[in-house]
Amino acid sequence: MKNQKLELTWIGKDKRPKLEARILLEDAAKSYHAPTRSEQAIFDNRLIFGDNLLALKALEQEFAGRVKCVFIDPPYNTGSAFAHYDDGLEHSIWLALMRDCLELIKRLLADDGSLWITIDDNEVHYLKVLCDEVFGRGNFVANVVWQKRTSPDNRLRLGNAHDHILVYGKQPLIHQKFNQLEIGEARKKDFKNPDNDPRGAWASTDFTGMTGHATASQFYKITAPNGKKHPPPEGRCWAISELTFEKLLQENRVWFGKDGNSRSRLKRFLSEMEGQNAWFWWGNDEVAHNQEAKKEINALFGAKNPFDTPKPERLMKRILELATNPGDLVLDSFAGSGTTGAVAHKMGRCWIMVELGEHCYTHIIPRLHKVIDGTDQGGISKVVNW
Ligand SMILES: C[S@@+](CC[C@H](N)C(=O)[O-])C[C@H]1O[C@@H](n2cnc3c(N)ncnc32)[C@H](O)[C@@H]1O
Repeated sequence: MKNQKLELTWIGKDKRPKLEARILLEDAAKSYHAPTRSEQAIFDNRLIFGDNLLALKALEQEFAGRVKCVFIDPPYNTGSAFAHYDDGLEHSIWLALMRDCLELIKRLLADDGSLWITIDDNEVHYLKVLCDEVFGRGNFVANVVWQKRTSPDNRLRLGNAHDHILVYGKQPLIHQKFNQLEIGEARKKDFKNPDNDPRGAWASTDFTGMTGHATASQFYKITAPNGKKHPPPEGRCWAISELTFEKLLQENRVWFGKDGNSRSRLKRFLSEMEGQNAWFWWGNDEVAHNQEAKKEINALFGAKNPFDTPKPERLMKRILELATNPGDLVLDSFAGSGTTGAVAHKMGRCWIMVELGEHCYTHIIPRLHKVIDGTDQGGISKVVNW
């Protein structure tokens, strides 16, 4: 049984339509760029109108191994019929389409690239197993929980408040390469300076650890300024050796509480931090919610011509901040209203988007024109100085 390969099966799994290679034809009349090239401008982005399997296949020759971040927000398969697309495929057909799409995406990803997929409870568990099959379980990074609502759904006794964002790398431990986030104002408020340290505000952090791999040098008693001796708490050790601790003590980086008697903690100075790490919980105060996304879309297209299921620009900004740097290539093959391209563009990333529906013309093109012209001052424009 050891090393047995577990797979998700469904009716028709082995029926694989052969994808004929297609050539992408440029519609030069629709090409659009700013009249002058600014420092941030990137002139070579692509919007592809068509089915994503065919489009991804067509991109393979030029872009295999070059895409730094793929974000997809596929139809969640909830059984809904939205104004611009249907969201109710038979479960096994949905799985087959997703499998084919994931395989193509994997080939396009750079070795240090990552894939981010938004999805809800209807299909997330099946999609997780499917992604494990295509990407390998070892390349699973996270199931980020995004708080998409602002309040409970009154129609339901137990209502959904979040979407999942499944994150995979092409290689294991990709998260080590993710960028840190800028330290937000809310987090900065945790930093104080009760001892007037000339290095400025700091926050104290615990430095106890689990004993599993601890060495003898991590079990020592720390003498607080008032003479009280503190061993590590019951069942724990210190995370640093006594030698390191002494050095930090000399540098005034240890805090024993206002009374000088408490168990010690380390001082972490705001001035020495380059950024903060992200975690798996993304609250809507940080990355917005569906209502904010709707407002952004209404501001762009008017309430009479909305797109039903856009993602907020701040959510996309968070993903691109973590997974990419300026100039990197971002791909979204379920583009919808074009949020990924709009945000990538404002953040100086290159982008490729694919969309099958007519809203490719009615929504994405006008949206990106506004971004390129600088007349879209909504979403993240002001924050990124677009
Ligand atoms: C949930 S929406 C994406 C919304 C997008 N993230 C946004 O912010 O506007 C999913 C989109 O995928 C598109 N889609 C569905 N199947 C597709 C396919 N086979 N090829 C290309 N696009 C497809 C739908 O038309 C729809 O616009």
